[in-house]
Amino acid sequence: MNSNIYLIGMMASGKSTIGKMLADLLKLEFIDTDKKIENFMRLPISKIFEEFGEDRFRAMEESYFTEKSQLSNLIISTGGGIILSHKNRKILQSASKSIYLKASPKILSKRVEKKIYKRPLLLNQNHSILSTLNTLFEKRNNLYENSAQFTIKTDSLSKTETFNEVLSCIV
Ligand code: S3P
Repeated sequence: MNSNIYLIGMMASGKSTIGKMLADLLKLEFIDTDKKIENFMRLPISKIFEEFGEDRFRAMEESYFTEKSQLSNLIISTGGGIILSHKNRKILQSASKSIYLKASPKILSKRVEKKIYKRPLLLNQNHSILSTLNTLFEKRNNLYENSAQFTIKTDSLSKTETFNEVLSCIV
């Protein structure tokens, strides 16, 4: 069975922050799929979307994710759209430790406001950030839940409390 620890969830749900904390504590390698793709392409995600389109980004994401999932003992923080790929969902479902950090669109919308330029799916929309996040959440929540072994509702949790909940899932 795949021994990696996967963090999944909507954008700004805390995957990278919690993933880094976990990696520090467990002394494991941390991988953020978005960061790796940005480094490889030498472009920020928003530029990759702009220049290559979302479909090409998804193909890169799937290819990087499936490759890294062959390895062991990694903490992998995933982009919010990782569950859109059937292949990625299969990997997450067969892992023993995939954790969904579930946050409501209302909470997420407050967090993304300042760094909106980093979120191509929220840019140039005719709708408010909250309504775009609501739509994404409605489309994706089941996919996250069905891909994760554990779901942690984080709305009323501090960063430390979320971290402790994650730890209790993996020990
Ligand atoms: C996306 C989330 C982003 C990034 C890209 C698409 C999504 O990652 O992969 O902008 O589809 O929800 P984060 O979840 O790390 O923000």
